[in-house]
Amino acid sequence: MKNDKAFYCNACGARYHKWLGKCEDCSQWNTIVEDISPSYTSKSTKIDFQTLSASNKEIERRLSDISEFDRVLGGGIVPGSVVLVGGDPGIGKSTLLLQVSAALSQDYSCVYISGEESAEQICIRAARLEMQDSSVKLACETDVDAIINSVGSNMDFLIIDSIQTLQCSSADSIPGTVAQVRTCAFKLINFAKSTNTAVFLIGHVTKEGAIAGPKILEHMVDTVLYFEGERGNSYRILRSVKNRYGPCDELGIFEMRNKGLVGVSNPSALFLTQRAENVPGSVVFSGIEGTRPILVEVQALVTRSYFSVPRRTVVGWDINRLLTVLAVIESKCKISFSSMDVCLNIAGGLRISEPACDLAVAVSLLSAASKKSIDRATCVFGEIGLTGEIRSVPRSSERIKEAEKLGFKTIILPESTNIQSSGIKLETVKSLTNAVELLEIDYS
Ligand code: TYD
Ligand code: MG
Repeated sequence: MKNDKAFYCNACGARYHKWLGKCEDCSQWNTIVEDISPSYTSKSTKIDFQTLSASNKEIERRLSDISEFDRVLGGGIVPGSVVLVGGDPGIGKSTLLLQVSAALSQDYSCVYISGEESAEQICIRAARLEMQDSSVKLACETDVDAIINSVGSNMDFLIIDSIQTLQCSSADSIPGTVAQVRTCAFKLINFAKSTNTAVFLIGHVTKEGAIAGPKILEHMVDTVLYFEGERGNSYRILRSVKNRYGPCDELGIFEMRNKGLVGVSNPSALFLTQRAENVPGSVVFSGIEGTRPILVEVQALVTRSYFSVPRRTVVGWDINRLLTVLAVIESKCKISFSSMDVCLNIAGGLRISEPACDLAVAVSLLSAASKKSIDRATCVFGEIGLTGEIRSVPRSSERIKEAEKLGFKTIILPESTNIQSSGIKLETVKSLTNAVELLEIDYS
């Protein structure tokens, strides 16, 4: 008998006639699933076309009044949109969305469905957050069809905690598997679009930090947010990595307190509060995260190494960029780190990915290596090229303004930046050696 079953790999798309534990093409485990093709009948009806200008009305946005949350979504929640929120276990996803649902329920109708916790657990959390009087409708359910049928078309917001616990009888596997997650998400997205209900899906993340389940989940939804934070640190960062209705890479900063998450409206002040007095290795970087400038402290420690291969440790920055900056310093400043361990830390738990942080990192490393502290009222930004030149970076005026607002007196920046001085002294530098001369760092 002919076997007409087909299987494909979720990671690379390779096709097989039988199920395998490991894909022969991309060597990934557990990625091969059966391809169940829906029976397809061609419709004879014709589709209508329209012009691009047909719908140029303003997007309606609903505010939750948790301003950090609204900001990350681009200024409010768009009805009918589907938002996926991912994050490590225990980081506070359920807490955040319970707070959001309570805030939204003051003006809108809102349903919170949990497949992970019992109603009692959620009520205890609500009591802790002092929101037991809100009109959020709560249910513990995992059957996606039951959820869609019960919510109906008159609800403004639907929150699902989490997409990995949902199941659908038409997909033939246990909850959390690729087929289940995809089918349930597909049904909920269709539901959101047809009823104009905004849907929030909480998603688990894998060991590597990506949202568990098929990558296609992130393609299907309108917005993907990650809720991040360092263990042992009370600050939490909500970051948008995809947003069809607003800018991506936007940040919302929260602090986890005893009574839930509280938005941080002035993050620069917060990240600088615990700065020590004039210590070598510490310098302030004027960065841009999303749409706003944020000042953070870059800390470096350079010590003698007891290992045959000296160690480089980084928290909050990219290790490869650190290695590049170290190589440029070695070649331009004639200082050797080959017998030194180097640690770099972005204080406060923020993760920086901007190249504009290069100069601040270089200055903190040089300051640590030479044991010369940098003036407390000085801050730095600029990208370093491989030949040691300092390159200009975008949105300099906002960086300067923020530094001025926080009381900094001097800012070291790339020479090509075309900005007039205001209340802060602008020290432009052309190359790394220029910066070393300016700061009077003596590492010999
Ligand atoms: P939770 O929302 O359950 O995390 P997730 O859904 O992402 O797994 O958050 C759990 C953590 O948050 C837990 O370690 C306790 C802490 N927490 C507070 O510090 N304050 C609070 O008011 C609440 C509700 C939780
Ligand atoms: Mg949870």
